[in-house]
Amino acid sequence: MVSAVTLIAVVAAVIGTVTTIAFHGYMYGKLDDQLHTVALRAAKPPGGGPPPGGGEPQRFDPLAFVDARGLPVGAFGAVVADGTVTDSRVVVESATTPGPGAEDSGQPMTAAQRGALEAAGLSAGEDARTVDLPGLGSSRVEAVTDPHGTTVLVGLPAAEVGSALTTLIVVEVCVTGAGLIAAGIAGAAMVGVALRPLRRVAATATLVSELPLHSGEVALLERVPQAQADPRTEVGQVGAALNRMLGHVGSALEARQESETRVRQFVADASHELRTPLASIRGYAELTRRGHEKTGPDTRHALGRIESEAERMTGMVEDLLLLARLDAGRPLGLESTDLSPVVVDAVSDARAAGERGHHWRLELPDEPATVHGDPTRLHQVLVNLLANARTHTPPGTTVTVRVRSTAGRPWVVLEVADDGPGIPPELLPHVFERFARGDASRSRSAGSTGLGLAIVEAVVAAHGGRVEVESVPGRTVFAVRLPALPPATAHSQQGDRLSTSA
Ligand SMILES: Nc1ncnc2c1ncn2[C@@H]1O[C@H](COP(=O)(O)OP(=O)(O)O)[C@@H](O)[C@H]1O
Ligand SMILES: [Mg+2]
Repeated sequence: MVSAVTLIAVVAAVIGTVTTIAFHGYMYGKLDDQLHTVALRAAKPPGGGPPPGGGEPQRFDPLAFVDARGLPVGAFGAVVADGTVTDSRVVVESATTPGPGAEDSGQPMTAAQRGALEAAGLSAGEDARTVDLPGLGSSRVEAVTDPHGTTVLVGLPAAEVGSALTTLIVVEVCVTGAGLIAAGIAGAAMVGVALRPLRRVAATATLVSELPLHSGEVALLERVPQAQADPRTEVGQVGAALNRMLGHVGSALEARQESETRVRQFVADASHELRTPLASIRGYAELTRRGHEKTGPDTRHALGRIESEAERMTGMVEDLLLLARLDAGRPLGLESTDLSPVVVDAVSDARAAGERGHHWRLELPDEPATVHGDPTRLHQVLVNLLANARTHTPPGTTVTVRVRSTAGRPWVVLEVADDGPGIPPELLPHVFERFARGDASRSRSAGSTGLGLAIVEAVVAAHGGRVEVESVPGRTVFAVRLPALPPATAHSQQGDRLSTSA
């Protein structure tokens, strides 16, 4: 846009300059022709000519040509002898009426004008020159030698030529300026119109760039409108190319989603299929151990191991199945759930299971802490967190389970804190990843799978919540934030529950 206007300006400047130079040459050429004609008259006065011979010639006036009709005001003649102006005559008003009175139209030059002429120092035979004369302005001057051998300077005013040139330049500048402004405005409008389709293409690209494409099922339906995808225009080609690209990206995303779904389905199917044979293994091992047949201590030990490992595997398979279902976005059985009873249940289970001498503490609010959640899944979250606090800490550790809900706050916070040795710092950033676990040998013997916290995170995320961990030796806190249910809804639902139980 700017470059186009600059280009126009350069072209206009070139045209203006050339025109001005040509006009200048033409005008001065014409003036010089005129000057030459007058100079000829001065050189060969009609009644003059060198005196034919002896005898006192009548007084000869070398400046008589100035009085001739038709010379413009400011024209002059001057006699020069030895570089000094000895006589001069300037036309002060157009000598239209020749005759005796015509002489009044001539007037001698001032001293300053004479000085300027002398300074110019023209000699006969030279080309015409422009001389600035004070009071007369710029004049074209030529020198001739008349029949008496006198050098006569002939001058014509060049002011008119100058003003004509000035007018031309002013007109040129004005027209160019106006033209540039008009071209700028028209150009801006045209560029705006021309770029509108491109803006639509850009809008589509922006829209797509804001879509969450990194995960999950993505329907990439955004396309550049057909009007901007016409391959006969440049913008259309961009639009069409973008559409093709979006098509490819869309099918790539679909393929990714499909393969993800397939893997998930496979894991879910495999876990499901493994449950039955695992149950059989456990059953038969128990049967054999309790059977009446006599078994040696080695066999009994082996059977015990088979049972405990089968149990561990069952747990892992259940965890995998649950994770696969959560990944697939299986809908939760969401209902208005008070967290306090869920916590009480889970802690008493943990207390009953804990044969290792942990201290369990509960801190519950007086008000119900109601969330929109799936009680079974939330119970699972608590079980996993409490199992960790139990299995990854030494006997005598105090575990505190806290529920905090503040009226008006959008979150209910569930905290499981222990004063055990803490999570190893190198594990801490990955603790919620699948199969991430601490000291392998110790954990494995404690029935560790490394899926517990992954499940916690997946369940909490499915509830629209967040789980965070803070851990230093002596203080490990898992904080689960769940969106609180507004009190109005919570109360009415609690009312329902009470009335049905009554
Ligand atoms: N309260 C805790 N104190 C110390 N370490 C913990 C605690 N909770 C979790 N961890 C560490 O985080 C790892 C991952 O936990 P988790 O995902 O539940 O797997 P798992 O319990 O099956 O090993 C554990 O192996 C353990 O090293
Ligand atoms: Mg665990």
